[in-house]
Amino acid sequence: MEKSFRITKNKEVSRGSEVSLFLNDQPIQAYEGESVASALMVNGQVAMRTTIEGDSRGLFCGMGVCFDCLVIVDDVPNTRACMTWVKDGMKVYTQSGLSK
Ligand code: FES
Repeated sequence: MEKSFRITKNKEVSRGSEVSLFLNDQPIQAYEGESVASALMVNGQVAMRTTIEGDSRGLFCGMGVCFDCLVIVDDVPNTRACMTWVKDGMKVYTQSGLSK
């Protein structure tokens, strides 16, 4: 993804090391200490799943309660993006309905 919403000009922002993260088989920028939800959002991926009826869902509560941020992480469906920390080499897929 080309567009990033990440803060870049504030010297008070510190980050962990950059990690290799893939979203729907495309590399995106992510850093240690970020949640999957955060990494997806700063890379412009606001919709993280669709419901069985096809409606888009994304980050809502941000604390593991609503389950609107479900994604597939390293072949595990129904993973809450807001409660999962990025890891080097992680493969994330947006989710349609109950799985891929
Ligand atoms: S945003 Fe609510 S569980 Fe992740």
